[in-house]
Amino acid sequence: MPRRPLPPRLLRALLLLGLLLLAAISAVQARPFERYDPRTGTMRELTFVNLRQGMKLFREFCRKCHTRGGEAPFLYPESRTMAAWNRIFAERQVDCAKKGVWNELTAEQLDTINDYLYHEAYDAWNPHNPSDWDSWSLYGW
Ligand code: HEC
Repeated sequence: MPRRPLPPRLLRALLLLGLLLLAAISAVQARPFERYDPRTGTMRELTFVNLRQGMKLFREFCRKCHTRGGEAPFLYPESRTMAAWNRIFAERQVDCAKKGVWNELTAEQLDTINDYLYHEAYDAWNPHNPSDWDSWSLYGW
């Protein structure tokens, strides 16, 4: 006995489900390659040099205090969203910035740290998308 074709209503439902899944997958954001900087109102390109420099500065400068068990809460890039990092650097309302600790660095260096944190932020990349993974090697890990 030949197999009966699937009822058209079921087929339509399956097709719709497939389309929805596809839309959901492609709606997830890939890593950003540029950043709108609200402080200066300019677009910054997130280059390899920028990001690596930002990573180093973040580790050498910010992590001095923001370590586990240190005087300030531990910070890692995924601690905040992209928008939150931008806000922190644009408004500089966090304790250390208000006390002038950040004045040791130039505006350009702080922008570079902002670039790095933005690029690695909580909502900046999708761990389920392999094309987002390769920037791990970008920084020389
Ligand atoms: C000299 C030590 C020091 C350095 C360097 C430093 N911070 Fe801080 N930071 C602090 C302290 C102390 C606080 C206040 C912690 C608290 O509220 O308990 C703070 C607070 C913060 C907060 C708010 C934390 C929270 O969870 O409320 C953020 C975000 C932050 N710093 C980011 C940075 C970044 C980014 C850098 C590098 C550009 C940096 N800090 C460099 C000492 C430092």
